[in-house]
Amino acid sequence: MKSIELKHVALIMDGNGRWANSRMKPRSWGHIRGSFIVSDIIEAADEIGIKSLTLYAFSTENWSRPVEEIRLLFKLLKKFIVREKRRIINNNIVFKMIGDRSELPQQTVDLINELELQTKHNSGLNLTFAFSYGGRKEIISAVNKCQIEYPGQKITEEMISENLYRPEVGDVDLLIRTGGEQRVSNFLLWQLAYSELYFSPTKWPEFSKEEFKNIVLNVKSRERRFGGLTQNSNLVNSSKVAHLHRSRFSVEAQ
Ligand code: FPP
Repeated sequence: MKSIELKHVALIMDGNGRWANSRMKPRSWGHIRGSFIVSDIIEAADEIGIKSLTLYAFSTENWSRPVEEIRLLFKLLKKFIVREKRRIINNNIVFKMIGDRSELPQQTVDLINELELQTKHNSGLNLTFAFSYGGRKEIISAVNKCQIEYPGQKITEEMISENLYRPEVGDVDLLIRTGGEQRVSNFLLWQLAYSELYFSPTKWPEFSKEEFKNIVLNVKSRERRFGGLTQNSNLVNSSKVAHLHRSRFSVEAQ
């Protein structure tokens, strides 16, 4: 059987807090451990030829968390960029952050801008960090841009897709969520329309390159129909339809 192509993989990195708490440690410990796994998964995606990887690091809803936890997540984002910058550039990765930067410390925004600029002409993996990101906000922003770009016109799906935060990465082919919950949590709502979904019970700090690669392999063998029919069921179906037509004609002819 032909395997399906997974060009764009998105990841909800969930379970840091529960992982830490189950070890009698503070949630912060889970986030710190979790931040070290991120580079492994980027490396794994690159190794198996995924074209785009989008990581959910902080949602618009996460603003309701205690201020210390928010500060820590900001700090981890900054540390990640400082630590991984060289590797991202050397590995030909195209880095972008999507989401609201207005509340981030200026130093972090500068680092993000700089890395985006330095990697913009690379041609390898499209790596996207969704930070202070919300899927509904992204759709609203796209609709507003369309209204400016195409005043008075009826808005089409193509217009919205072209005006998303990072249009070049396209729809998501596979969404993986770790941590055992089965929700999409306002992540890439538009792009997930026909995505395959995979929910792993593994908490993010224990997620590994091996599990990531296995999930991709497993999902590749699934069949995607995009609301249509498979080749086989197409054949079955068309022969059924032909049969129905034939019997109708023979009744009419009698
Ligand atoms: C969910 O765990 C995770 C987050 C809200 C943030 C994801 C952040 C990381 C993986 C670390 C930060 C890394 C970088 C590079 C910014 P949770 O706290 O909701 O876990 P829980 O569901 O067990 O409470």
